Amino acid sequence: MTANELESTAKALVADGRGILAADESVATISKRFANLGIESTPETRRAYRQTLLTTPGISEFISGAILYDETIRQSTKEGKPFPQALEESGVIPGIKVDTGAKDLAKTQGEKVTEGLDGLKERVAEYYQLGARFAKWRAVITIGDNIPSYACLNANANALARYAAICQEGGLVPIVEPEVLMDGSHSFERCFDVTSKTLSIVFEQLRAQNVTLEHMLLKPSMIVAGKDAPRQASVSEVASATVTCYLRNVPAAVPGIVLLSGGQADQLATEHLNAMNTGANLPWKLTYSYGRALQDSALSTWAGNDANVEKAQKALYLRAKCNSAAAKGVYTKEMENS
Ligand code: 13P
Repeated sequence: MTANELESTAKALVADGRGILAADESVATISKRFANLGIESTPETRRAYRQTLLTTPGISEFISGAILYDETIRQSTKEGKPFPQALEESGVIPGIKVDTGAKDLAKTQGEKVTEGLDGLKERVAEYYQLGARFAKWRAVITIGDNIPSYACLNANANALARYAAICQEGGLVPIVEPEVLMDGSHSFERCFDVTSKTLSIVFEQLRAQNVTLEHMLLKPSMIVAGKDAPRQASVSEVASATVTCYLRNVPAAVPGIVLLSGGQADQLATEHLNAMNTGANLPWKLTYSYGRALQDSALSTWAGNDANVEKAQKALYLRAKCNSAAAKGVYTKEMENS
């Protein structure tokens, strides 16, 4: 693969009005989501659910890429077509989560560091062979009394940068995801400060590891108050603080920022993205790479029953269509009834 391929993949993933479907939940995470709805979690039910999402008719109008989990990238449609091939044929770029999860970081107050660097070069080569053209690695930063610590920010930023360098060398566009969690009762202002500090250390480390900024995407969290905070910021406050934070910390060489939803209600995540893109003249594309905010309605509609596949696909299509409009700053609430 060439530098040109990395550049064209990165640009294609954030082409006008398109964003990414994050469907890369680990077996443990998807099993929890299934359990909440009373759905049994087996390799076959997970496969059937992922087929429902990934084969939604017309989805490539709004979805440029789909992030898969290790189990899913090796699975196929009921008709026997490997998922990466099915995606590619429908105009959606296959991606892969390559981290192995957030583990306890020694000598900190319950902070986490994401692992998965061991053997990553070989795994990247295999995923490329399986059809993946981009990757994701998620670091989690928790806000609390006296945390995040420098130890946590530095360890996670260094791992993200080493992952990104390995991916670029192996032909995958890395999505660099430092997620500042919404858990807790911290203020909106505190989230702004922690996210600014996190992004600044992440870019320092990306430069130190020679990561080509033009060949990566950033997947950050929005600036929001903790979910138990007494005061929640308005949609316009969230949008303006988030854009200010990114303008100060994300170099213009990065082709795109693809937001995570982090547990926000699906319509709210759409409203936030729309407000950020309304009348904006930003140096990078600002679009979505939502997991729950794209999938929640589809998952509860499907509910483990084959008879609901078409209705579930319509639910995903609607969320993708609304978010596509939000990425262009032209979303309206009336679209929810279309
Ligand atoms: P959420 O949008 O549900 O936060 O998921 C996005 C994601 O990929 C988290 O790693």
